Amino acid sequence: MILPATPDSIEKAAAILRAGGLVGMPTETVYGLAGNANDDRAVAAIFAAKQRPSFNPLIVHLPTVAAAKSLALFSDYAAKLAEQFWPGPLTMVLPQQPNSPVSKLATAGLPTIALRVPNHQTAQDLMRACGLPLAAPSANRSGEISPTQAKHVEKSLGSAIDMILDGGECLVGLESTIVDLSTGRPTVLRMGGISLEQIEAVIGPIDRFDGKKTGPIKAPGMLLRHYSPSIPLRMGIDNPKADEALLAFGADIPAGFQNILNLSASGDLLEAAANLYKFLHQLDHPSYSGIAAMPVPDHGLGRAINDRLRRAAAKDHL
Ligand code: TXA
Ligand code: MG
Repeated sequence: MILPATPDSIEKAAAILRAGGLVGMPTETVYGLAGNANDDRAVAAIFAAKQRPSFNPLIVHLPTVAAAKSLALFSDYAAKLAEQFWPGPLTMVLPQQPNSPVSKLATAGLPTIALRVPNHQTAQDLMRACGLPLAAPSANRSGEISPTQAKHVEKSLGSAIDMILDGGECLVGLESTIVDLSTGRPTVLRMGGISLEQIEAVIGPIDRFDGKKTGPIKAPGMLLRHYSPSIPLRMGIDNPKADEALLAFGADIPAGFQNILNLSASGDLLEAAANLYKFLHQLDHPSYSGIAAMPVPDHGLGRAINDRLRRAAAKDHL
């Protein structure tokens, strides 16, 4: 059930969360499937609803930096990044505080925890109303396109969750950037709403996860095939086939072609990021043989856009 975010519906959603239920929660990046991070059963219900193939750790959402500091240990770098980018589309992987109340299922039993303070009024109101840390992966079935509107959540998970709060369209439109600050060398694990350039401007050069690192986690967002439409997707295409849909970028688009959605006619990467998932949802239709995506420059938010397109295009999971 989709309800517009009002003080009344937010109170109802908070009651659902306190009782161990799940709520579709708008954030500035994508809609999250939120549950009480301290409650093993609520966290297990998140995995079940998403049909995630394995119990990967989830991001825990908090209303303030102070609340985040009660759950994890912040290095100097972490404190600087929090000051600069929270609330906002940055997730930090940090050493967990001893005696943290967070469910071990949410952290996959790791000594670290992924934290984020989202920059969205409804998410903020909901977290304050329920007074709980909220575990929230993107509110879509595992592997599918992420949701940037309440109706996307309804379509993918409507039958599996108790309430979806409609907080409008997500302004950033891509998941948060994940930076691991739990080791000696800060490392970007997932490109997202904050660019590499923005992070490096605050803490200097950082490592990039190379996809080969072995360890206990293979994050779903790091699986090769992810964020995928049900029809094939090809990248870097300037001359689509007649029966394909074109996901265009920029002013220079093929003449006489009908099935087009343009991520940004002016070539604005921020606008393109915000439109990406919405347009993939719209073009994911069996009347097309596939989706052809035009080249997107590989800097700033373009890196995260290309990362998602690459995974959407991949045929294999690993
Ligand atoms: O924008 C976002 O981040 C959205 C919104 C709803 O906040 N959430 C989101 O969550 O994308 P999810 O669960 O789809 O992605 C969580 C990512 C996964 O790739 C997971 O493996 C990684 O965070 N992660 C969580 N805890 C971790 C940890 N302790 N160490 C390394 N990676 C971790
Ligand atoms: Mg996801």
